[in-house]
Amino acid sequence: MAKIDFKALKNKAQKDINLAKDLKELDEIFRKYLGEKGELRQILHSLKDLPQLKRKETGKLANQIKKEIEETLKKKKSNIQNLISNIQKQEWVDITIPGKKPVLGHLHPLTQVKREVEEIFQSMGFSVVEGPEIENEWYNFDALNIPKDHPARDMWDTLWLKDKGAKLLLRTHTSPVQIHYMEKNQPPLRIIVPGSVFRHEATDTRHEFQLYQVEGLMVDKEISVANLKAILAEFFKRFFGKNTAFRLDPDFFPFTEPSFNVSVTCVICEGKGCNLCKKTGWLEMAGAGMVHPNVFKNSGLNLNPPAGEWRGWAFGFGLERLAMMKYKIDDVRLFRSGDLRFLNQF
Ligand code: FA5
Repeated sequence: MAKIDFKALKNKAQKDINLAKDLKELDEIFRKYLGEKGELRQILHSLKDLPQLKRKETGKLANQIKKEIEETLKKKKSNIQNLISNIQKQEWVDITIPGKKPVLGHLHPLTQVKREVEEIFQSMGFSVVEGPEIENEWYNFDALNIPKDHPARDMWDTLWLKDKGAKLLLRTHTSPVQIHYMEKNQPPLRIIVPGSVFRHEATDTRHEFQLYQVEGLMVDKEISVANLKAILAEFFKRFFGKNTAFRLDPDFFPFTEPSFNVSVTCVICEGKGCNLCKKTGWLEMAGAGMVHPNVFKNSGLNLNPPAGEWRGWAFGFGLERLAMMKYKIDDVRLFRSGDLRFLNQF
């Protein structure tokens, strides 16, 4: 029988044990060395062929190695078991603990108000239409009867875009959508146009540099300011849920003639006068008026038959101002402040 290198055998076994990653691998190692057909068992079996003296000496050595391998296996097994039980402890889930409720968001107050305004006008036969937020000079100004160098362009502090050619801008109001719509549709028309508008202006309690407007346009036969007033009255009644005092004051817009601004009683001071309404007791909600003939002309509206029979009125509400008067909010900047203490109240 060839000389047995017990040291090499022991080292090989210990190396295998060190590398073992789980109990299954340890089991395989046990079988490989100490199992029925394992290397050490084979050696012990073959001892019977050795001379007695040699048999005793080799047997002793083999038993000692066997013991050492068993020891190492035992240690490694207990290490792996500890590891498993630690992981089990960490990952243990108590399924009887009540679950944590997910925090549910809700719609922004301006979205809620926008939807409410849309519903009211839809129920009165108006369609909801949208238009682009980036406009060119023609739609934002010229087509609305505001030619270049007209002082009325100063009414809106415009954010111009750097571009290569056509002068583009962030629309300062939703009125350009009147033109877009009349280019493609024939009267009678009834639309509202909610959307964002942008102005390069300083902010205060009533002014934001980005705001929502809701444009309204009605074109029909023989309609007048009386129809505009009736629709506004119905809208205010439904939106505020009660008869709300409102008034039309003469104003100037190049795209309407005559023009008005529409105000409601300030709810913050109940008409007594406060900082928000500049002590007047009224807060402006919209600009409005009868559509100027040049606006019909510039949109290419084919008023046929007799052009004289068709009339139009338009308005442009500030959505934030409507929300402020509905919910008694005295600072428009709260809407986009991202302050959850404010937003969670809706
Ligand atoms: C206009 O923008 C006109 N396009 C409205 C119009 C439409 C007139 C159709 C005639 C016919 P004005 O700049 O006044 O008008 O703005 C209309 C409304 O938007 C105001 O009454 C106000 O409610 C709101 N608004 C205007 N500027 C701001 C601002 N900086 N912050 C918050 N709300 C504003």
